[in-house]
Amino acid sequence: MPTYFRRPNALKYFKHRTRTRTARSLFQTLLIFVLATAAFAAPKKIILDTDPGSDDAMALMLALNSPELDVRAITVVPGNVTAAQGLDNALRLVSLANRCHIPVAAGAQHPLYQKLITAEFWHGHNGLADIELPPSKCKVDARFGPDLIIQLVHASPHQITLVPVGPLTNSAVAIEKDASIVPLVKEVILMGGGISGGNVNAAAEANIYNDPEAAQVVFQAGWPLTMVGLDVANKTLLTQKYLDQLGSTHGQVNDFIYGAAKYLVSLSAKFGSPGTAMYDPLAVGVAIDSKLVEAPEMHVDIETRGHSLAAKRSHIGKGTSNKTFWMETTT
Ligand code: BDR
Ligand code: CA
Repeated sequence: MPTYFRRPNALKYFKHRTRTRTARSLFQTLLIFVLATAAFAAPKKIILDTDPGSDDAMALMLALNSPELDVRAITVVPGNVTAAQGLDNALRLVSLANRCHIPVAAGAQHPLYQKLITAEFWHGHNGLADIELPPSKCKVDARFGPDLIIQLVHASPHQITLVPVGPLTNSAVAIEKDASIVPLVKEVILMGGGISGGNVNAAAEANIYNDPEAAQVVFQAGWPLTMVGLDVANKTLLTQKYLDQLGSTHGQVNDFIYGAAKYLVSLSAKFGSPGTAMYDPLAVGVAIDSKLVEAPEMHVDIETRGHSLAAKRSHIGKGTSNKTFWMETTT
């Protein structure tokens, strides 16, 4: 017979034990719930592949300062600036954010087949809106960017979101080197392309224009891919109103972002735009919260052979009409 039945207050004791057990199982349920919620809300592991770049810098700071994201690596690709300048910029930015533990790796040195066309006219002589950041306290990671992508994907299968916000050279090289990463990548959220016109010429958006062959590899790889293209990014204008808000608070990172945004807003004004598009920050924004955009499913090809298009936006090719008339029926 259990000892407690022999006690005068056996029933009380039994009740007490029952209550304790109930309390314990409630606690266990709660613990499981909390752990499950924590696991559910665990930050998303991302690799940011970038060509820094003024809006890349904003995207990078957004990623580094978002608790929803766990930036596992930053890989650098040439685009807005050369590979060497981009690497220097990435290191200075990560240093400014005091995040030297995040690996920053150099990647491809040029596009797969095309000649690199940089964009200092837009991003400033150093790619960072002419702002001189202090030299970096962080050291470059010795690994080759695409190899680092491959390594991290294998180390965390089905958990890594790849966020390329520059030309797609590094991502394409990673696939070419090890195609087995494709089904192991959780998803790709990239800034690039446009389904209704470009910003470099009538058809092409800058990231795709810089390395169309790499883009075709990435778009056809077969992994889940969200294209944050010009169609949506052009709607995210940072205007004077937001600039004023940014300028009302201060800090190292804040002041840098304010300076870069100010530079871009005044440059955009010269092109007749009331604000500057948040291209790369939007891709990071979608990684943080996919509900920011609507993304209908479609097949996207990168045309590298000869599709003809006419510029629909008046600022593209302004003053360079080749006297070609676009025929359209009006019925
Ligand atoms: C894209 O091109 C670059 O200039 C920007 O950083 C962005 O990634 C926009 O077309
Ligand atoms: Ca970019």
